This record gives sequence, C-alpha cells and structure tokens, in this order.
Amino acid sequence: MIHRTLVLAAAFGLTVAGMTGVANAADVEAGEKVFKKCKACHTIEAGGKNKIGPNLHGILGSEAGTVEGFKYSKAFKEASFTWDETELAKYLADPKGYLKGNKMAFPGLKKEEDLANVIAYMSDAGS
Ligand code: HEC
Repeated sequence: MIHRTLVLAAAFGLTVAGMTGVANAADVEAGEKVFKKCKACHTIEAGGKNKIGPNLHGILGSEAGTVEGFKYSKAFKEASFTWDETELAKYLADPKGYLKGNKMAFPGLKKEEDLANVIAYMSDAGS
C-alpha cells in the first residue's frame, strides 16, 4: 500500500502533505464503485469476456495490448510497456492524451481519489 501510494504520488507530483491524503483515500470498496464506470466496456473477473474493451483481469504487471482475442487499435498493438500503478494512473486520467490513437472512448477520471481507489480495486480484483 505504501509503495502504491508513493508511485501514485509521484505520478501526480504531489507534495508530501498530499501523499497522506492519497494513502487515506486508496480504498478497494470505493474503487469498486468507480469501476462501475468501466463496466460498460470491461469485465475484470478471471476468464471474463472481452466487451467493447478487453478483460482487465491481472492487468497490473501485464504487457499493454496483449489480452487474448481482443482487437486492439494500432496504437495499442504497437505499444510496448507494462502496466503498473503509475502507467494506469496516467492512462486513466487522460486516455486520449496518454496514448495517441487508442480507441478507449472514456474522458478520464479527474479526481486523484477516484484514480487511487480504482487502481486499488483493479489490483485487488485482478490478482
Ligand atoms: C466506452 C468504453 C470504455 C470505457 C467506459 C472504459 N474503457 Fe478501457 N478500454 C476500452 C477500449 C475500446 C480499449 C482498447 C483501446 C484500444 O485498443 O485502443 C480499452 C483499454 C483499456 C486498458 C488497456 C488494456 C490493455 O490490454 O492494455 C485499460 C487498462 C483500461 N481500458 C481500463 C479502463 C478503466 C479502469 C476504465 C474505467 C475507469 C475504462 N477502461 C473505461 C473501452 C472502454
């Protein structure tokens, strides 16, 4: 948890005072609520099907754009990086700006708290 907080804090360039806020906020249950916004397009359970977007089980620590059977945009097919908390936070804050040409039609999560919580949930539900 401390590690995740530090990474998220780094991603947002938060001050030391701000980090405490994120630490208190990172909450799996709250993250599950935030994840409702994602459910129109994503499943997260093991073996869940691909919908408009790929299944997100085990996404933390996995290579971007590699879920079996999902038709990714060229942008994701050509991407080569591993999803960790920092990358996820940056992507979910601004999907379009993060990876040009990706086709996730989601405006992004504007609240740092929502980001921290949804990533905590994805880490929990996806492992
Ligand atoms: C309107 C549908 C839609 C919504 C809502 C949506 N996504 Fe996506 N998501 C997609 C699509 C489509 C892709 C694949 C993009 C591509 O191939 O360019 C994607 C890709 C992703 C990826 C990369 C997966 C990989 O295999 O590398 C992650 C992570 C992700 N979404 C997380 C989320 C989260 C978390 C939310 C909610 C906060 C969310 N998405 C909301 C459609 C959506």
